[in-house]
Amino acid sequence: MRLAVIGTGYVGLVAGAGFSDFGNDVVCVDLDEARIERLRKGVIPIHEPQLEDLVQRNLAAGRLSFTTSTAEAVPGADVVILAVGTPQSEDDGSADLRFIEAAAAQVATALTGFAVVVTKSTVPVGTADRIRAILSAGTKHPFAVASNPEFLKEGDAVNDFMKPDRVILGVDDDRAARTLRSLYSPFVRTGDRIMVMDIRSAELTKYASNSMLAVRISFMNELALLAEKVGADIEQVRKGMSTDPRIGNKFLFPGPGFGGSCFPKDIRALSHTARQNGHQLEIVDAAERANRRQKRVLGERIRAAFGGALAGKRIAIWGLAFKPETDDIREAPALQLVSDLLEAGATVVGYDPVAMDNVRAQLGDRIELANDMYAVAAGAHALALVTEWKQFRGADFRRLKEQMANPLVFDGRNIWDPATMRDLGFTYHAIGRGHEQNAPRG
Ligand SMILES: NC(=O)c1ccc[n+]([C@@H]2O[C@H](COP(=O)([O-])OP(=O)(O)OC[C@H]3O[C@@H](n4cnc5c(N)ncnc54)[C@H](O)[C@@H]3O)[C@@H](O)[C@H]2O)c1
Repeated sequence: MRLAVIGTGYVGLVAGAGFSDFGNDVVCVDLDEARIERLRKGVIPIHEPQLEDLVQRNLAAGRLSFTTSTAEAVPGADVVILAVGTPQSEDDGSADLRFIEAAAAQVATALTGFAVVVTKSTVPVGTADRIRAILSAGTKHPFAVASNPEFLKEGDAVNDFMKPDRVILGVDDDRAARTLRSLYSPFVRTGDRIMVMDIRSAELTKYASNSMLAVRISFMNELALLAEKVGADIEQVRKGMSTDPRIGNKFLFPGPGFGGSCFPKDIRALSHTARQNGHQLEIVDAAERANRRQKRVLGERIRAAFGGALAGKRIAIWGLAFKPETDDIREAPALQLVSDLLEAGATVVGYDPVAMDNVRAQLGDRIELANDMYAVAAGAHALALVTEWKQFRGADFRRLKEQMANPLVFDGRNIWDPATMRDLGFTYHAIGRGHEQNAPRG
């Protein structure tokens, strides 16, 4: 099949490369000329495991190409995939649909015959109708619109895309359903995980899934704060809960709040859709509020440890990306922490295996960055672990302690053993491990 993918970010690039790997001819479009120039040479603009190989292999095979011109990519395509960003609007939390509407208008003028125009971006219920209206106004050629929300996770995006748990197809047209089914059938050979449904249900499924996951995280974060107050250990509680198959063991890890390019904006957009329709999603709203509070917890604790002010204090941060295995820092908890620490007068120095270029671009010289996880701790009065990259789990703590001016550690992901840390001579704080405060010292 011939495909045009409009928007070559995390989703568009993975999808474009993934589809081409199954033998389709794919042209990926992006407005960003520098990005397209680099991609043409096989240089990947983001950190995503396995993506470089996938792109280079299909580029070399001539099945994958890149352009800045929608007018060039769309003619002759059987399927046009919209994968542009849908960020949050400044004002009311709604999804900003300017990019998707502009992309649809560009596609309309480029159509030369029938194509299925399918939205992979996360868009509010009803967006397919807007896209249909834009296409109708801009072309005389026949087309079908469809919704195909994407469920890949950054950091494991290639695996998720190539072996999806499910493929959701929102369609109201038989031809579109047939085309999209045959596009996806090689991805689901070992079981029919393609679900065909109406377009509005498909659009809502994506927000429902992300919101459920966000709610789980916020629930555990709230419970973790309670565990501290009542002298319980959230890690024991988590294990106790997760053996119940109705609950399961995923997304129950307390931490410094969730970030990323999806959960925060998607729960706000869903809540906005509800309000627009005269409905209040109390639980989703509460998850948002709880998350905003949770993102301040590490900063408050570090300040409290120094009596409220951090002037003259050097605070090191391990992990700046919003989660491991990605360089994405959108709404990352580390950014809130940096801002809180700076406001309290601290000098902040950070290390992340892959996200430092993005941090430098966003924060400039407000934060010092070090190229080594131990060097970042040199002279630090405290260290905060914010992103649980693997290399931090088995850190050389003796070396770390030698570097630090003061052996004070805030483990924002509960990845270290409290007793071991204490034995090594650290003053150790975790999230929700209240029993530690009552544990005998010495
Ligand atoms: N990142 C994820 O993990 C993820 C997962 C599932 C769904 N989504 C959704 O997928 C969509 C894309 O997310 P992303 O993270 O890939 O975004 P992104 O910001 O990484 O990429 C979007 C790209 O679209 C380009 N673009 C914007 N307008 C364009 C136009 N008219 N023509 C061509 N290119 C254009 C931008 O230059 C940018 O490179 C969003 O709706 C997001 O919510 C993201």
